[in-house]
Amino acid sequence: MNESFKSIKLTDLIPSRALGFDLFLFFPENKKFIKYISKDDIIDNEIIMRMKTRCIHELFVNREDMELYQKYLAKSLKYRLTNSAHDNEESARIMKQAARNIFENISPQSNQSEIKSWCDDVIGLTNAIVENLSGDNLNEFKEKLSGLIEGDRTLGEHSLAVSVLAVTFGMALGIYHGCTLRDLAVGGLLHDVGFIEIPRQVVFKYLHNQKLTSEELALLIKHPQLGADMVKSSIDSPIITNKVIKIILEHHENIRGTGYPRGISNMKQSYLARIVGVADNVAKDVINREPLDFRFSILRCAKNDEAFDCDLLKQVMKVI
Ligand SMILES: [Fe+2]
Ligand SMILES: [Fe+2]
Repeated sequence: MNESFKSIKLTDLIPSRALGFDLFLFFPENKKFIKYISKDDIIDNEIIMRMKTRCIHELFVNREDMELYQKYLAKSLKYRLTNSAHDNEESARIMKQAARNIFENISPQSNQSEIKSWCDDVIGLTNAIVENLSGDNLNEFKEKLSGLIEGDRTLGEHSLAVSVLAVTFGMALGIYHGCTLRDLAVGGLLHDVGFIEIPRQVVFKYLHNQKLTSEELALLIKHPQLGADMVKSSIDSPIITNKVIKIILEHHENIRGTGYPRGISNMKQSYLARIVGVADNVAKDVINREPLDFRFSILRCAKNDEAFDCDLLKQVMKVI
């Protein structure tokens, strides 16, 4: 296959929106990419139906247009997340893609309009997380959960896993209030947002459980404070509540006061930050397990009773 083209799925296209980039079809007989839809064309339902009836499920974008394609994906996020025609596997794929986009589209240099559209993406994804996880029977719910957690160890996918687990644990602990679940979803998704100010190779090593040097570790432990400062100072949106800021700041604290950045003790760590702290550990632990075993990972946290709130873990174990 030609390296100059990237494959995309038909389900990534949404009706009534101009593409801004050309779309190609691949003809294996003569190994050629032929332009199928022009960048100025509006994709409508009829075109999508026509492709479906012709069994066209895969299209191609020229790699030079990848930036335009990524922007298109980010804009169409809300539509694709709320499209009820998706099955579990497809909605997990879209949510992971959305989470990766969120971390690719924010930087300390982002301007106000970029931050506004970024907040819209965070709202779209966290709404989808909360809606997706409530109202199912337990078996269906566990299947959905596994689909959302397994995958790569990119910052986006890790953050999605933590958000999903934090909402799940919250519900297991009897939190049904929409605003609090939203805080858990947003706080879980953004708990490591401070990583975007830390060199990528350090974050990569951390997410892949590789040994860090003492200099790298010193940088890494700044991420809760960096993240909290960043969202407080530059993001003016109702989704950034005080509870969300506390989650970002305190997710590595623990009940014995041996965490960071402040080493707060005597149960001063906020309750929601404690839930996200457990979700963070389970997300990092469970990804190494085949098949995914949430109970095993929670039990590992429970053994480490220095750090985690055992009552909280017991309640979570009853449901998972
Ligand atoms: Fe973290
Ligand atoms: Fe994390």
